[in-house]
Amino acid sequence: MSPPNPPFTTEIRPYGKAAIAEAARLIGEGLPVAMPTETVYGLAADATNGEAVARIYEAKGRPSFNPLIVHVQSLAQAKDYGVFSEAAEAAAGHYWPGPLTIVVERRADSPIAELVTAGLPTIALRCPKHPAMQDLLQATGTPLAAPSANASGTISATSADHVMKTLEGRIPLIVDGGRTEQGLESTIVRFTGDTVTLLRPGPINFEEIVRLSSLPANFSSGKIEAPGQLQSHYAPSKPLRLNVEAPEAGEWMIGFGPVPGHETLSNKGDLVEAAARLFEALHRAEASNRDAIAVAPIPQTGIGAAINDRLKRAAAPR
Ligand code: TXA
Ligand code: MG
Repeated sequence: MSPPNPPFTTEIRPYGKAAIAEAARLIGEGLPVAMPTETVYGLAADATNGEAVARIYEAKGRPSFNPLIVHVQSLAQAKDYGVFSEAAEAAAGHYWPGPLTIVVERRADSPIAELVTAGLPTIALRCPKHPAMQDLLQATGTPLAAPSANASGTISATSADHVMKTLEGRIPLIVDGGRTEQGLESTIVRFTGDTVTLLRPGPINFEEIVRLSSLPANFSSGKIEAPGQLQSHYAPSKPLRLNVEAPEAGEWMIGFGPVPGHETLSNKGDLVEAAARLFEALHRAEASNRDAIAVAPIPQTGIGAAINDRLKRAAAPR
């Protein structure tokens, strides 16, 4: 059964047993819920459910897909999804639970939805300290993808009222844990190869992480890994044509709605379903025996804008 659709009547419930039980029920239905963390409020959904993750983007009204942080209960759980080097493990051991996000290589057998990592070979993992988020992780038993709980283009929320201001009607529930402790998003570091790289400064000092790891530090040479840059990493290697109603010979056709194909993003024309399938469809097109890829027209409404943004990047000449 499909979960209900927006607009929702957005409830605010004070953090406690009843609120966590309700949040867990909604997560189980595949809906996103706003949760306090020690940094900022997060908009959490089941990271193993592509459509639930698509609803995060839909609620935020984000015009592009940006990889999301996966929240976990422990380092042991994180190791199910990412490959931890000794140094990465030492950092997690030292700072978790807490405001440190660790980017590592994604495990090939990871159950995390492709949309969470937006097609990247790496995954961002964080074990939050806030008891509300820990309780929800425990109650659901699933990893939770959670970007900051604010509409696209607005600042991160540090109270339930802030969340309400930009997401009212777009999500069913906000768990109110009062003002967040840090008010600043987590520090993000990447452990790949034999270096540690700062991707986003935050509450945990990068020099301290470097000292602890005894690895050479990389400050991203001031070159922030913006979502746009990240996206060029995983454009398919085959030419891609957009807004195609009928494929040419040699093209692998990805359909949508009334336009059929070798496979379809959604034969019902459902944009949430299409977003959830997008990256897997591109991978299959890449692996097919055709030399080129064609994609049916996707409406520019709602999350369709983010789908088209990704497709345009994938189609751009390289
Ligand atoms: O404190 C926080 O980190 C909050 C709370 C809710 O946990 N979350 C948060 O999420 O700030 P968000 O989506 O607003 O920022 C996540 C950042 C993005 O800049 C994204 O590009 C980066 O993490 N990111 C995610 N996965 C990545 C990856 N595999 N490689 C590099 N950067 C990644
Ligand atoms: Mg954000």
